[in-house]
Amino acid sequence: MGKDVIVALDFASAEQVFAFLDRFPDRKPFVKIGMELFYAEGPQIVRQIKARGHRIFLDLKLHDIPNTVKKAMAVLSSLDVDIVNLHAAGTTAMMQAALEGLTRPDGTRPLLIAVTQLTSTDQQSMERDLLIHEPIDQVVMHYAQTARQAGLDGVVCSPLEAGKVHAACGSSFLTVTPGVRFSAASAGDQKRVTTPAQARELGSDYIVVGRPITAAEDPAAAYARCVQEFVG
Ligand code: C5P
Repeated sequence: MGKDVIVALDFASAEQVFAFLDRFPDRKPFVKIGMELFYAEGPQIVRQIKARGHRIFLDLKLHDIPNTVKKAMAVLSSLDVDIVNLHAAGTTAMMQAALEGLTRPDGTRPLLIAVTQLTSTDQQSMERDLLIHEPIDQVVMHYAQTARQAGLDGVVCSPLEAGKVHAACGSSFLTVTPGVRFSAASAGDQKRVTTPAQARELGSDYIVVGRPITAAEDPAAAYARCVQEFVG
């Protein structure tokens, strides 16, 4: 898969999602389904969006004992999604079990990427609550390398970290990057943002874009602008 824009479907109901997707008559965007929508509507929402021809990143961030994650991943794989994720904090055994669960009888599987440290975790909370005392950027890079060694396909990270991740884990290790805005002035609750063009220059493989598209007056135009800037 080449570079692409993934639209975060951060909506609370199927009705809202379909009203939104109906506004894309031409190209079907790659979309991200997160916990809110999945827990509200169940696996059926994944099947329905897939049936409309969208590629899907199912962002459920699994983290449990290896056997439980393996079985849950087998269920997600049967939904025919394109990317799924987990917390690297589950450690190597969990990540390897996840890969086993995801692999279909014919040998194919969705891409599997890892969350390293959540961007809501900072140095202070990591030290205080998790008793991890290394610098957070080293922790993030170590988790990325552990994920790669376990056989995963990439990580979720900031576009600002994409270069370092590629240097540490190889250029084919995917960087899937949220925190994208058309301008710094529209950052909102995202702390460190880049434009789609900057994310491209920094080497992101996929950008995940929510509100700059979902809250735009013309979502299809905002999506087209993202694709133009990021993919060219
Ligand atoms: O609306 P916005 O463009 O900020 O949406 C970004 C999407 O990426 C949301 O679904 C958010 O949960 C997700 N995300 C993020 N930062 C992370 C991981 C995921 O913004 N570190």
